[in-house]
Amino acid sequence: MKVVNQISELRGEISRARQAGRSVGLVPTMGALHNGHLSLIEEAAHRNDFIVVSIFVNPTQFNDPSDLERYPRDLDADLQILGQQTADIVFAPDVKEMYPEKDKRNFDLSPLDKVMEGKFRPGHFKGVAQIVTKLFDAVTPDRAYFGQKDFQQLAIIRKIAGQSEQEIEIIGCPIIREPDGLAMSSRNVLLTPDQRKAAPLIYQTLVEAKKRQSSYSPVEITEWVTGTINAHPLMQVEYFEIVDEQELMPVTEWGLHVNKVGCIAVHLGRVRLIDNVYFD
Ligand code: PAF
Repeated sequence: MKVVNQISELRGEISRARQAGRSVGLVPTMGALHNGHLSLIEEAAHRNDFIVVSIFVNPTQFNDPSDLERYPRDLDADLQILGQQTADIVFAPDVKEMYPEKDKRNFDLSPLDKVMEGKFRPGHFKGVAQIVTKLFDAVTPDRAYFGQKDFQQLAIIRKIAGQSEQEIEIIGCPIIREPDGLAMSSRNVLLTPDQRKAAPLIYQTLVEAKKRQSSYSPVEITEWVTGTINAHPLMQVEYFEIVDEQELMPVTEWGLHVNKVGCIAVHLGRVRLIDNVYFD
């Protein structure tokens, strides 16, 4: 495993791999690696000969400067974890390398960026699009791997890849959970012990909501989920929406859409967690 900080060096490594006839898989991350990331790398290793893992806390996707400041960073620990994985290259650039000048590009992500995360984190998906297109350009992967926990991000990245001249297969990988059901996230380490104890209520409520689906409308389920989580003194729901998988449009009747996903964002103090489940 080689650690590379510069795009020019990364391109050299990729070009050598290509000359050797190797396919390239990219796993973009912001570090603070956990088993969710490792599952992406494992998945990438099944179908690619040469694996690039990027570690870069992308400032342009943080709409809240204090969130950027607090975001967990520990490159040494990440490299230690990656040493036991099948990554060939760890690409860990600094901000100057990725943004030598202000990125003024805009992206047509509508309507996917108008709902849920897009409503509450203005500019977030523009920042994601900026960094992901830069990574795609630098790595030119055959396939790129993203977790389904960031469901809206995945839909948006599929759209970006569809608009690109590069042919990149976007692979969405299942959410990996702690034994108590909490979706793995780099932000989980920021939870206080009390918040961590409370956090599994998010997934438990989503699972219970699925069980209630046959007896209640999407609106009733939405009210129930929001009310149940908000009843906990440490938790505040930012949104819970049941949307159609493709367009992320609100589901008003179960029968009108084939694939329906309930997406949630919850604040526990200053930590914001997201999760989702498919409905039948
Ligand atoms: O999901 C993430 O960790 C980030 O949004 C990504 C895709 C690595 C872009 O910075």
